[in-house]
Amino acid sequence: MHTVSQHDESIQGKPTVLPSTGMGIGKKVYIESYGCQMNFSDSEIVASILHNNGCQTTADLQEADVIFVNTCSVRENAELRVRQRFTEFKSLKKHKPHLIVGVLGCMAERLKDKFLEEEKLVDLVVGPDSYRKLPDLLMSVEDGKKGIEVLLSLEETYADISPVRLSGNGITAFISITRGCDNMCTFCVVPFTRGRERSRNPETIIEEAKDLYQQGYKEIMLLGQNINSYLWYGGGPKKEFKHLSEEEKTQSVNFASLLNRVAMISPQMRIRYTTSNPQDMTDEVLEIMASHPNICRYIHLPVQSGNTNVLQRMNRGYSREAYLNRIAAIRRYMPDCAISTDIISGFCGETEEEHADTISLMRQVGFDYAYMFKYSERPNTMAQRKFADDVLEDVKGRRLQQIIDLQNKLSLESNQRDIGKTFEVLVEGVSKKDENELYGRNSQNKVFVFPKQNLIPGDYVWVKALDCTSATIKGEIVNVEAHV
Ligand code: SAH
Ligand code: F3S
Repeated sequence: MHTVSQHDESIQGKPTVLPSTGMGIGKKVYIESYGCQMNFSDSEIVASILHNNGCQTTADLQEADVIFVNTCSVRENAELRVRQRFTEFKSLKKHKPHLIVGVLGCMAERLKDKFLEEEKLVDLVVGPDSYRKLPDLLMSVEDGKKGIEVLLSLEETYADISPVRLSGNGITAFISITRGCDNMCTFCVVPFTRGRERSRNPETIIEEAKDLYQQGYKEIMLLGQNINSYLWYGGGPKKEFKHLSEEEKTQSVNFASLLNRVAMISPQMRIRYTTSNPQDMTDEVLEIMASHPNICRYIHLPVQSGNTNVLQRMNRGYSREAYLNRIAAIRRYMPDCAISTDIISGFCGETEEEHADTISLMRQVGFDYAYMFKYSERPNTMAQRKFADDVLEDVKGRRLQQIIDLQNKLSLESNQRDIGKTFEVLVEGVSKKDENELYGRNSQNKVFVFPKQNLIPGDYVWVKALDCTSATIKGEIVNVEAHV
């Protein structure tokens, strides 16, 4: 089991395959997704576009006429894994000459025609803003042409496309509310592969959320690369509020007010969101969270480094002190809020003292969870152009291990503090280790395992924490709530 989080390496390592739908006629399409949740959400949009054009999705690679891989470029390892996958598909093609193989997502955008020209690994290359063209591109590939479409858009949000919910558990659904990123962190390839930041029409978001609630979903995860900077003013590329015209200001909707509206759909529906950039995490958003018990007490707030000079080289837009100030604000509004983070070890020029600042910040905050990475230089990013990737590989590795060891300890301590307390848990499924047990998460995003009784996924249940590891809390049911 894994908790649903933006950068879960367990998700990144294991491809998620959309199960068969049995809908539509014509081509059978197999879609494999890697990387962040936005990619998984995009694959559902892709499935929807294909269904509307007479294709069906399949979970069986052997019966596929088309293979799409929705790819991630954020670290070199992610790309290497996908390349390996394409060579496997290439050999599959030897036995099945009509098989069409396509690369979608960030690697398609980053490498463009390299895939087609130099390596001849794929027939189709489609970037994140061009999925509406997939049916036409598939047709032209059938006519013997190679298909490529990698233009980035200032407007595309796929607002009118209702995603085919195939990859989830029927309980949690993703809704993308912004696309792209304007932040330009120096290490990050995302602004180049996903383009300019733009916000989606709030009415279409509310409609999608209501629809999901009516279908029986219990948890909505709002997605955006820098979600707190959501600002709808009528469409188009991101603008600061102060730069809007008077008319745009009047009709504008910011993240706090969107969150408020989504939370009001039903108190029985949980709301999560990711990812927050520290400099855009306003008190207004925290106040809205605190006023709705169904907005989960969990914030993913990537810090990357605990040293202000490193943060400056990363162009993160905040200092160590400013980050700690946001942590203090979160705790002020919601003392029971869990906080997770992303950390990069061995960024360009990182000294032992700078690394020690990351360790001390981790201790000071006491993160409940963290996603931890070694710095991986990405072509054409600002860091690659301006700084030397000069921290030796074994030093990066040692520092990362120190960070991981400390986080394991902090996660264990965080879970231990919960022992004896009772939490409302949303049942997600049957435990993989014991079929007499269920698992689910509390508002703080912690995974609980508890006896099955007569509960089913989608139920809310009160669980008392009895025992824990750094990853899971074992509990007993204290009072089963009525089904909703
Ligand atoms: N704002 C996005 C970030 C996408 S990248 C989001 O969270 O939605 C996710 C994480 O990967 C980053 O927070 C960072 O910790 C890590 N990362 C990004 N580029 C990296 C690189 N070049 N090397 C190592 N880690 C990186
Ligand atoms: Fe990347 Fe920074 Fe945006 S990490 S996705 S450039 S907020």
